[in-house]
Amino acid sequence: MKGLAKALVVYYSKFGNTEKIAKAVAAGLQSGGMDADTAKVDTVNFDELSEIDLLCVGTPVHAWNVSKPAKEFLERLKGLEGLSGKKAFAFDTRFKSRMAGSAGGKVEKKLKEMGFVVAKPASSAIVLGQQGPLEEGAEETFRQIGEELASMM
Ligand SMILES: Cc1cc2nc3c(=O)[nH]c(=O)nc-3n(C[C@H](O)[C@H](O)[C@H](O)COP(=O)(O)O)c2cc1C
Repeated sequence: MKGLAKALVVYYSKFGNTEKIAKAVAAGLQSGGMDADTAKVDTVNFDELSEIDLLCVGTPVHAWNVSKPAKEFLERLKGLEGLSGKKAFAFDTRFKSRMAGSAGGKVEKKLKEMGFVVAKPASSAIVLGQQGPLEEGAEETFRQIGEELASMM
């Protein structure tokens, strides 16, 4: 019998806010019935990526763009084979300002170029200051996104 569908939520977080969102997504994926784990960009076991069905990638917006550690992770990912057809979801954390810029859409584009199938359009969680906190309800919103993603698998 085939085991549970597997998901990995990879994230970079300087101050812990993106980490909280990553954990919320993973909790939602689990309550939706998936085998879900989280990993920081610098602790990802690239050998195990071939076993996953869904990859979620989260990053804070830094200088209107994807954070450098998340960019580096994506560069390494690009070199791997066997990712085509797997599902993906990207998210970012950023200010609410119109001038905040974004990163999730850029991550999503790169994942698409690698052959991933976007399961759900990228979303942002809002932080109230550079070090947080997250806007009220952000973790619950992303837990629900996790459940929704699990229901699509
Ligand atoms: C160097 C740096 C640059 C940043 N640039 C932006 C930016 O361009 N737009 C934005 O909305 N937030 C920006 N921020 C705020 C981050 O989005 C915020 O620190 C982040 O969401 C917090 O997530 P973390 O706790 O996971 O690091 C910046 C933060 C840092 C440290």
